[in-house]
Amino acid sequence: MRILSGIQPSGTIHIGNYFGMIKKMIESQNDGELFAFLASYHALTSVKDKEALQNNMFEAAVNFLALGMDPEKSTFWVQHDVKEVLELYWILSNHTSMGLLERAHSYKDKTSRGIQANHGLFSYPVLMAADILLYDVDVVPVGKDQIQHVEMTRDIANSFNHAYDKEIFILPKAKVDEIVATVPGTDGAKMSKSYGNTIDMFGSKKKVKKQVMGIVTDSKELDEPKEWENCNIYKLCELFMNEDELKDLQKRYETPGEGYGHFKLTLLDKINEHFEPYLEKREYYLNNKDEVKDILAFGANKARKIAQAKMEQIRELIGLKI
Ligand code: TYM
Repeated sequence: MRILSGIQPSGTIHIGNYFGMIKKMIESQNDGELFAFLASYHALTSVKDKEALQNNMFEAAVNFLALGMDPEKSTFWVQHDVKEVLELYWILSNHTSMGLLERAHSYKDKTSRGIQANHGLFSYPVLMAADILLYDVDVVPVGKDQIQHVEMTRDIANSFNHAYDKEIFILPKAKVDEIVATVPGTDGAKMSKSYGNTIDMFGSKKKVKKQVMGIVTDSKELDEPKEWENCNIYKLCELFMNEDELKDLQKRYETPGEGYGHFKLTLLDKINEHFEPYLEKREYYLNNKDEVKDILAFGANKARKIAQAKMEQIRELIGLKI
């Protein structure tokens, strides 16, 4: 089974990305052949600053390696190092209806929030389809917000296969873990870089504390019992705690005497405890940039071999060879 997923290096990686996708990807290295990449071309839709993009890419690579990405076992690269994806993107554009792209939630959501509509943003799902179809992928682990993009990939693959009367593309399936399908942010909406409600995965102690202390709650006082069911702090604790710990926390909510500040500190401890074991490896890679670059180049070579072979078949099929 071939598994593929990508993440945009468009800012600091947050715990929504981690639980929604990174954790599942790292674990899936034992289930099949994993392809994981940093979607640098996709990030250009939002990052227009050279140094920010470079730093984000490096940091994202470091974080994946620290969390256990195994570059020998898996294929781990940066999207723009395999240019074939852009050729396929154009070819697939000719099998993608305007109507399909106009229905994309992510595009509608971004433009409704005032982000300028440009062609990159509009055709984003076609590039994503190319990412997936180039590698004959069976499964794509993603958070809920990306399901529609994987469905669009299936639609595009289907039209293409139909047009040339050949099952050249496998129809991929999105894999979404219901519990973490949408990790809430500090304000209760979906955690997202573009909503400014994130909690960093490897942020400085000070920054993560500020983010956690900023979680929005109701205004119940210390001496009142509190409802854990709809509390943003509790929802985030669910990601880090086992059942017994959650039962204890529920009791603390129901018993007057503690305030939300206490629960926030409990969450903060859990976050620090969760990411602690990866810090040393992360520090190592941060200080060994050349090694990180070599790892990504090695991954790009592996990915490119597959991409080139697939593109040969596609060119042949559609008449791009005399
Ligand atoms: P990106 O960078 O926006 O997000 C990376 C992954 O994190 C998931 N995610 C979440 N999951 C749960 N709760 C949240 N609050 C949350 N926020 C983000 C996303 O669903 C995603 O899985 N288009 C992709 C990148 C991409 C890609 C691909 C993915 C480009 N090509 C091909 C798969 C296959 C994206 O925007 O990810």
